[in-house]
Amino acid sequence: MQTAILEYEFDKYPFYRWACDVLQISCLDQAHQERRVKASNRGPTFNQLASSFEMIKNVYHDFLLEVLVKQVGEIATYQCPPSFRFHYCGLGSSVFHSDREFGVEDGRINVWVPLTPVWGDNSLWIESKVGSGQYEAVNMKPGQLLIFDGVNLRHGSRINSTSATRVSFDLRFLPGKGPAVPTSY
Ligand SMILES: [Fe+2]
Repeated sequence: MQTAILEYEFDKYPFYRWACDVLQISCLDQAHQERRVKASNRGPTFNQLASSFEMIKNVYHDFLLEVLVKQVGEIATYQCPPSFRFHYCGLGSSVFHSDREFGVEDGRINVWVPLTPVWGDNSLWIESKVGSGQYEAVNMKPGQLLIFDGVNLRHGSRINSTSATRVSFDLRFLPGKGPAVPTSY
């Protein structure tokens, strides 16, 4: 599947408001200013948003079925819960990798949904072509989602030199005959 940015109705799926409520902040891209938020944030599967997923689970299912299935076709399985990530300004970088290196099988497709505007060093950097070693930052705004072949295309994050924190969630899905079944992969 080609790397593609798809559009969705941001206001129809209240991930942003839910995240603000959970974190008790009004601006997700300023989350770095709250020591309280950073202090209880330990990783993609161990943070306040991951712990509060049950509150937004139905919205997530609707989002998958109404947005993703409509635009990419039938889905056999999809990751539930997704991984929630914070890329704080002034911090963090992740090792560039392909998911294949972590044992993810061919055929799975990555979906990346930033809830804050992303550009340059607060974004995800993805290889333009498998094996090219040439990376580009994805420029996106809330209301867009990215689909890419993370099993084969190397990707990662650089130290966030912008003044905005990135908050995002991501998942993988397996295309195929539905109905789409949530799985823990
Ligand atoms: Fe990855």
